[in-house]
Amino acid sequence: MKSSLILTGTVLAMALYGLLGTGMVAVTAAAEEPAKELVLEGKKPAHFNHKTHTALGMECGVCHHDQKHVPLTAEAIGAVTDPATLSCMSCHNDQHPKQELRQAKDIFHARCKTCHQEGYQGKNGPTKCTDCHLKSDKKNLEGC
Ligand code: HEC
Ligand code: HEC
Ligand code: HEC
Ligand code: HEC
Repeated sequence: MKSSLILTGTVLAMALYGLLGTGMVAVTAAAEEPAKELVLEGKKPAHFNHKTHTALGMECGVCHHDQKHVPLTAEAIGAVTDPATLSCMSCHNDQHPKQELRQAKDIFHARCKTCHQEGYQGKNGPTKCTDCHLKSDKKNLEGC
């Protein structure tokens, strides 16, 4: 399974390289760690920067996993052709088998806030609401 994913990734990368090399097609490339900060959209948008996290030596699979909850490697993510499938809410929605894993707040706070509190490699992350949530949205952050 894993090796076939890696193989698919390699074949894809070669195909993309070939196409780009000949200057024929501008393809939406296979998925890589985004260099820019992301805004995680929802009722309370929050910002997230991959670089801050991977610079600590964090594997992709700390956050990204498949439908069986198996952590995704960078290679497996590289083989993803539709980045929309990496969207957390594409699985954590009304269809998710576990009631407690259907809401954005539940999954993001479980993953993000918990680690910030417990720390990683001796470093803690920020835990105030407005450290993650956009300040422009402050009036919606009652209870902070
Ligand atoms: C470590 C980062 C982080 C911290 C700290 C944090 N949040 Fe969040 N929170 C998120 C992310 C990411 C989302 C998902 C974005 C969204 O759904 O709008 C989220 C979602 C939410 C949602 C659900 C929005 C929705 O779409 O249903 C609420 C409500 C919320 N947060 C409130 C708070 C409050 C109040 C605090 C402070 C006590 C807080 N958060 C602190 C990261 C954080
Ligand atoms: C600390 C958590 C975390 C780690 C570690 C992490 N990511 Fe992500 N990544 C996210 C979140 C959150 C999103 C946004 C998902 C969403 O939109 O629901 C995301 C989105 C992405 C996307 C889609 C971007 C887009 O524009 O749609 C790609 C590609 C991606 N990550 C690749 C990687 C790769 C490759 C690694 C490892 C080198 C990695 N990520 C490590 C949390 C993480
Ligand atoms: C392809 C579908 C899928 C995607 C995409 C997905 N998840 Fe999950 N997630 C699952 C499944 C399945 C489980 C396991 C549920 C169970 O315990 O039976 C799970 C479990 C979890 C859990 C609870 C267990 C744990 O690991 O702590 C959290 C938190 C979580 N996911 C966060 C995320 C975040 C954050 C993202 C986006 C970066 C994400 N998930 C993307 C399917 C997905
Ligand atoms: C496994 C641990 C871990 C997870 C998971 C994690 N973080 Fe962090 N995060 C950290 C640590 C540690 C720092 C402090 C880094 C430093 O000081 O160099 C940090 C820093 C940050 C910062 C401040 C620096 C910056 O990049 O702007 C934000 C915002 C942030 N994280 C948001 C998030 C969100 C949103 C998620 C979930 C999608 C998340 N983090 C998941 C450990 C984690």
